[in-house]
Amino acid sequence: MSVSIIIGGQWGDEAKGKVTDLLTSRAQMAIRPNGSTNAGHTVVTDQGTFKFHLIPSGILYPHCVCVIGAGVAINPAELLNEMAELRQRGLDLSRLYISDRANVIMPYHPILDRLEEERRGAQSVGTTLKGNGPAYTDKVGRLGIRVADLLEESALIERLRLAIPAKNVILGSLYNAEPLDASEILEQYVAMGELLAPHVRQAEVLVQDAIAAGQTVLIEGAQASMLDLDYGTYPYVTSTTPTAAGACQGAGVGPTQVDQVIGVYKAYTTRVGAGPFPSELHDAAGERLRERGDEYGTTTGRPRRVGWFDAVAARYTARLNGVTQVALTKFDVLDELAEIPICVGYRSDGDQLVAPPATIEAYERVQPVYEILPGWRQSTASLRDESALPPAARRYVERIQELLGVPIALIGTGPHRDQTIWRADARRLTAARASD
Ligand code: GDP
Ligand code: IMO
Ligand code: MG
Repeated sequence: MSVSIIIGGQWGDEAKGKVTDLLTSRAQMAIRPNGSTNAGHTVVTDQGTFKFHLIPSGILYPHCVCVIGAGVAINPAELLNEMAELRQRGLDLSRLYISDRANVIMPYHPILDRLEEERRGAQSVGTTLKGNGPAYTDKVGRLGIRVADLLEESALIERLRLAIPAKNVILGSLYNAEPLDASEILEQYVAMGELLAPHVRQAEVLVQDAIAAGQTVLIEGAQASMLDLDYGTYPYVTSTTPTAAGACQGAGVGPTQVDQVIGVYKAYTTRVGAGPFPSELHDAAGERLRERGDEYGTTTGRPRRVGWFDAVAARYTARLNGVTQVALTKFDVLDELAEIPICVGYRSDGDQLVAPPATIEAYERVQPVYEILPGWRQSTASLRDESALPPAARRYVERIQELLGVPIALIGTGPHRDQTIWRADARRLTAARASD
């Protein structure tokens, strides 16, 4: 048995979907612990491309039970759409379970998300506008509506009786927007609750039973540590804790039950939305990386900001998460470069920083210190054997591993699940895959 957590080590979109898919081939349970439809995880198989927003990528494997954990905020309409699309593609969704404790994204959450972004003007976060922030604000404010409430009309009436008048005051007085009609919302959400009901479970009990039965369990984190509420570039962050610790909480797993934490890192860096990004490229080189890496948001289609690998931020998140193995993804995107800079230090006002500073003002002042490595200028696309990597490519991998201080277990050489190099350090991961 083993319990593994997969987390994003940068600002999101590191290819967590692909890595989860690789490891799920032998897992019996896959859990999504956090976030909402703000996430977009891509898996490319012989059956085509799948873009998952709420449902764990493990659903592609008929033997794998999939759980949406208590830490997730669910937009029921979007979940029902995602389920319908997957069913149309021939997938069996009877083994998808939804935590009765997961919070629900209500119609006012995306509205408030958009209005608040507009109000912030130049300080807007660049959210996905999915209602994520307002939904988690309500959760913490004890005004949230949970999946279990959708299944009990009298409970939902009580929750709405508390929430709607408060929302209407905020909508009217802060944003000058139209009030909401509670009865309409009640009707829609009771109907969606009925459709979801066959999948609703006490998910943390299912998860603990799976662990007790010695099953192999994978937790597929969404977002990434540099978007974490506490350790990310606050306030340019998401509204959850997308760390390994947050994944434990969202999935209903204790820290002592976790065997490995797999940190997924792109071989360069991207970020969607606003906020500090010291190694960002604003020139033709950045444009070229964006095109080669097809760096456009899976959820929103927005062009992603791109830059060189930031080893300061990456080492910081590898340590914070207790990462035990790294998946280095999108390696092939660097193939044509003559030289590849790595940001190995942050300089600020004459000081050398060892970790990202707390304020965005201080972070914006940071000057990246680069180490320049030679490129390999030949294709690594589709390689599966490490010995086939050109020497300069191997040197790049070794240097990143040294800077992270964690073994790199696999290298992504293309979007397809087969385009992967499993390294010697992958033995433990492979053991986890085969331990059912
Ligand atoms: P996630 O949110 O972390 O799951 O990542 P996304 O799915 O949002 O973005 C990763 C993108 O890179 C997707 O379009 C993947 O198909 C693609 N991808 C994943 N691994 C590789 C790789 O090794 N090489 C290349 N070229 N593309 C990859
Ligand atoms: P995956 O799981 C990349 C970013 C948004 C914005 C900030 C807050 O696919 O890696 P939110 O809608 O969460 O309130 O937006 O967080 N963001 C992501 N960026 N990948 C994601 O998910 C993201 N989820 C949120 O762009 O900057
Ligand atoms: Mg994504």
